[in-house]
Amino acid sequence: MNDNDLQALAQKYGTPLYTYDGDKIISQFEKLKSCLPEEIEIFYSMKTNPLLGICQLFKKLNSSIEVASSGELYTALSAGFSPQQIIFTSPGKTYEELEYAIEEQIYSINIESIDEAIIINSIAAEKNKKVDISIRINPDFDATCSSIKMSGVPTQFGIDQALMGKAFDTFSQLPNINVIGIHIYTGTQALYAEKIIFAMEQIISLALELSETYGFSLKFLDMGGGFGIPYFKGETELNLEVLKEGVAQVWDKYKDRLVHTRVAVESGRFLMAESGMYLTKVIYTKECKGNKYIICDGGSNHHASSAFLGRHIRNNFPMHVLNKSEAEEEVNVVGPLCTPTDVIGQKVKLPQIDVGDILAIDKSGAYGLTQSPLAFLSHPSPAEVIQFGKESFVLRERGRKEDYIKGQNELNRK
Ligand SMILES: Cc1ncc(COP(=O)(O)O)c(C=O)c1O
Repeated sequence: MNDNDLQALAQKYGTPLYTYDGDKIISQFEKLKSCLPEEIEIFYSMKTNPLLGICQLFKKLNSSIEVASSGELYTALSAGFSPQQIIFTSPGKTYEELEYAIEEQIYSINIESIDEAIIINSIAAEKNKKVDISIRINPDFDATCSSIKMSGVPTQFGIDQALMGKAFDTFSQLPNINVIGIHIYTGTQALYAEKIIFAMEQIISLALELSETYGFSLKFLDMGGGFGIPYFKGETELNLEVLKEGVAQVWDKYKDRLVHTRVAVESGRFLMAESGMYLTKVIYTKECKGNKYIICDGGSNHHASSAFLGRHIRNNFPMHVLNKSEAEEEVNVVGPLCTPTDVIGQKVKLPQIDVGDILAIDKSGAYGLTQSPLAFLSHPSPAEVIQFGKESFVLRERGRKEDYIKGQNELNRK
């Protein structure tokens, strides 16, 4: 979408606004699909962007879906995914969430601890069911795929590879669970194809070894993925040619042993990030002790990751002012929150800015609103729209100030 498209959307729907380019989402899905052998399935990780309409788009693309809470499971089902297309991964599934997943008979609950298997077994026994589970493993190998490691190091995710003996001893005492698979997710934002391929090979080989050692048939293998996109200076695009070739080689080596296995990758960021823009309007400009501040109608309350929250390195998201490209000045772009952390662009070079200009923060389709402290200061939630060609659709209506007392009770204490 060009600046005129974005300006028109801001005009029509107001700001702050999330916009998604539907055609870009489709092309990213197709790109990833084209890198994988036909037999490997993509699961959309809906934590990336849990909008109902986005899930429906992935459903149309024939994606399956990975959920991480009962809210996500409810949305996935509402979007039309069949239970067989849904897997559930999270280190903190509650008893009620597990009950819900079991009742809905989703394809696999990916367990993250031995205790979780014990709870699933007791719920399943009560309901007179046998429940399919996969084991999320924190492997011994160092899968240095990405800057944000989620395996091979101490984390709250998965069960240590070293505990597999103990785990399978326990599982053998649990008649209402059925181990169908292995899941390993090494980390997000992997930009080097060679490392993803290396991790995949390790994952397949470990899964096959475990299935032989512990005598279960490997019906499901979820290899994670972590496919990244470049945000910052110095980062380069994932080389899809290398990825395709490498995955094909690994697949050729193992495919005969995986004919009865449903093999999956998960993806969120790669599919969504580059489709999204966050549009926020400049409402004031001011100087303070030699620094220029651009104050916008939305900030980290809607887009925490652009404000460096949760990131180790303070680099600015790519951003620009709609339909302006002339002289540059160094400014700090901030949102409306009463906290010095509400900085969505620090010492960023932008054209001369006027009140009323619209700032577009690029690559905002993944981990945007969903990962943000929306409630802080009770600003309404932004509207979210998707555009295909010249046609736009509202996926989330703009919130209202009244939303904040919804569900609250007045204090009736005398
Ligand atoms: C288990 C699991 N699967 C999938 C994802 C999505 O990863 P990405 O957005 O890098 O594709 C995550 C992200 O943290 C995750 O924890």
